[in-house]
Amino acid sequence: MSIFNETAQQYDEWYKEKKGGFIDKIETDLAFAMIETYEGMKILDIGCGTGNFSMKLAKMGCRVTGIDVSQKMLDVARAKASQEALDIAFITMDAADLKFADNEFDAVVSMAAFEFIKDVKIAVSEIFRVVKAGGQILIGTINRESEWGEFYRLDEVREGSVFKYAEFKSLEEIMSWKPEKLLKTGECLFVSPFAEESLFNDETEEQSSKGKRGGFICALWEK
Ligand SMILES: C[S@@+](CC[C@H](N)C(=O)[O-])C[C@H]1O[C@@H](n2cnc3c(N)ncnc32)[C@H](O)[C@@H]1O
Repeated sequence: MSIFNETAQQYDEWYKEKKGGFIDKIETDLAFAMIETYEGMKILDIGCGTGNFSMKLAKMGCRVTGIDVSQKMLDVARAKASQEALDIAFITMDAADLKFADNEFDAVVSMAAFEFIKDVKIAVSEIFRVVKAGGQILIGTINRESEWGEFYRLDEVREGSVFKYAEFKSLEEIMSWKPEKLLKTGECLFVSPFAEESLFNDETEEQSSKGKRGGFICALWEK
C-alpha cells in the first residue's frame, strides 16, 4: 500500500495555504524556466500525485500522462482534471517499472517525487528509455543540503509524516545520475522554513538567496 494513500484527501490543502501556495509557485516557475514546452508535446509526469503539475502542463496544451503508485492520489487527480475538463491519462504505475515503449515521450518531468522513489537508478534508466532521442527530462526534488532538507528530516519524527519514508538528495547526487546528458541545474526556495508566513514572498526569496543553498533543486537532461 502506498504511503500517500492515507494523505491523498488532505494533500491539496497544503497548496491552498500561503506558504504552500508560494512554494508551489516558485518551484513551478523554476521548472518552467528550465524545460521547454510546446502545444501537443507528449509528456510523462512521474509521481504525479493529485495531478498538480500534470494539470499545469495540460493547460499549456501538452498531452499529459501522469503515473503514480498511490491509487488514492490518482483518484483525486482524476476528479480534479475532470472538473476542469482536462484530458489527462492518470495511470497506477511504478517509476521503476514503466509500461511504455522505448522513445514514447517528448519529455518526462517529476516534481517532488524522487525523495520517495526507492529504486532511483532503475527509475532514471526507465525514464531515459521512454523519452525519445533529443527529449528533455526534468527532475525536481528537495535539497538534502539545505535548511529545508533539515526541516523535513525533523518532520520525519512527526507521527504519520510521509517524510519519514523520504530519502533526500543533494544536487551533486542528482547531477551524477546521467552527467553526460546533463544540460543545466537550478535551485529555488531560499526563504527559511522557519520564517513567519508573511515572509513567504518574492522579495524575501530574492534577499535570502545570497550565499545560501535552495531547498528545492532541479536538473534538466537531454537524451
Ligand atoms: C510529494 S508527492 C508529489 C506529487 C506531485 N508531483 C506534486 O508535485 O504535487 C510524491 C508522489 O510520488 C509518488 N511516488 C512515490 N514513489 C513512487 C514510485 N516508485 N513510482 C511512482 N510514484 C511514486 C507518491 O505516491 C506521491 O504521490
